[in-house]
Amino acid sequence: MTWTAIVLAAGRSTRFQSERPKVVHPLAGRPMIRHVLEALQTAGCSTPPVVVIGPSALEVREAAGPGARFAIQPEPRGTGDAARWAEPILRGEVDHILITYGDLPLVRPETFRRLIEAHQARGAILTFLTAHRADPTGYGRVIRDPEGRALRIVEEAEADPEERRLPEINVGVYVIHEPWLWPALARLQPSPAKGEIYLTDLIALAAAEGAPVETVALEDPDEALGINTRVQLAEAERIMRRRINTRWMLEGVTLLDPERVYIEASVHIGPDTVIYPDTYLEGETRIGRRCRLGPNTILRDAVLGDDCIVEASIVEGAVLADRVHVGPFAHLRPGTRLAEEVHVGNFAEIKNSVVGPRTRMHHFGYLGDATVGADVNIGAGTVTCNYDGVRKHPTVIEDEAFIGSDTMLVAPVRVGRKAKTGAGSVVTHDVPPETLVYGVPARPHSSP
Ligand code: UD1
Ligand code: CA
Repeated sequence: MTWTAIVLAAGRSTRFQSERPKVVHPLAGRPMIRHVLEALQTAGCSTPPVVVIGPSALEVREAAGPGARFAIQPEPRGTGDAARWAEPILRGEVDHILITYGDLPLVRPETFRRLIEAHQARGAILTFLTAHRADPTGYGRVIRDPEGRALRIVEEAEADPEERRLPEINVGVYVIHEPWLWPALARLQPSPAKGEIYLTDLIALAAAEGAPVETVALEDPDEALGINTRVQLAEAERIMRRRINTRWMLEGVTLLDPERVYIEASVHIGPDTVIYPDTYLEGETRIGRRCRLGPNTILRDAVLGDDCIVEASIVEGAVLADRVHVGPFAHLRPGTRLAEEVHVGNFAEIKNSVVGPRTRMHHFGYLGDATVGADVNIGAGTVTCNYDGVRKHPTVIEDEAFIGSDTMLVAPVRVGRKAKTGAGSVVTHDVPPETLVYGVPARPHSSP
């Protein structure tokens, strides 16, 4: 059996109150629609899904990423109309078509699979997902006959008070036999209340024909959450956070308070790492084993080796080897590479710099565009003066140099191996190896 998917994302997102289509808004750091497409791919669709988008939805194309095809719905006339625009691409391609919505990012791959397997096993024309939600407000309700067969779905706008009390909702995921789908879509009529063409009217159409309609109930009703508003987005974020954090805890990561650790979907963490509250792990961050992170820490596109400590600090686009200690209150910016056992302490900033093993920068200071060797001591208040107002210049500090407190290194400048600078020096010329310089501007002293 072959199947593929249509993902509807051409609606107006009126309730979301945004200038941008809602499906591009991030959830756990990834565009909402990306979660849907990845789940479909994991579920094993036979050919790439077709995303139905509005005419000027370049942002949605970008957010969907590679591996999707696109159809354009010229005007948002409803979900039933939207699905029709995929017909020219998909007609005759596969046996069954799964239709879902770009605003349903919590449906799991296993759920898509379960739906398809049930559809196939029961030989249905149409099988759809239902859920029992404590508060069904806003969702279509499932109307069944006395034998329990699904007869139709009534939308909230059309439902009478009795129907509104029904707890069983339409999740918005359907698997349909392909040859039946296209002519059925063409027969849908606009709804009396809103004038939209409802995809959900397919159920009544099939039931009226006596065609077999089946349903599969969600085990976890959280998966049914549709994102129409920012309030629902925040709820989805909380559910997603809980899922991600549970996964990492089961893989051996300690989270002191899982409600207060924010890990994006793309992050990887090694076992026995311990994470304190109010820590954010974002983007392509990779954490080794036995690290200690937080509290109050942001790691964004950061790569950490094993046994690192980062506390109350921000690390962006930086690579740390094993046993590096950062913080409290440090800011590592893109292009920073710290070798083993480097210590970067209180109120230090490092940008676009390579720092060798065991080098220490315990107190406030700034390194920019610097190459620092091994076993260097960088005294409190050291600054690489790398910017002359026009251009950035490099600083080189060789192995075992000792940079005295409050040294200004006016780049371009090089401090040689085992050289020393006195407290308060302003270094404007290269310092030869094993030489002591001091003063303003710094001059060599005869015996270092
Ligand atoms: C829909 C279902 C409802 C279900 C709920 C589940 C219909 C008529 N109703 O309602 O039964 O319980 O989802 O969350 O299908 N879209 C288009 N083109 C359009 C209109 C919508 O592509 O012309 C897209 C939207 O971008 C969205 C999706 O279809 O991603 C669903 O539309 P939305 O307006 O959110 O439907 P609901 O009112 O949530
Ligand atoms: Ca919706």
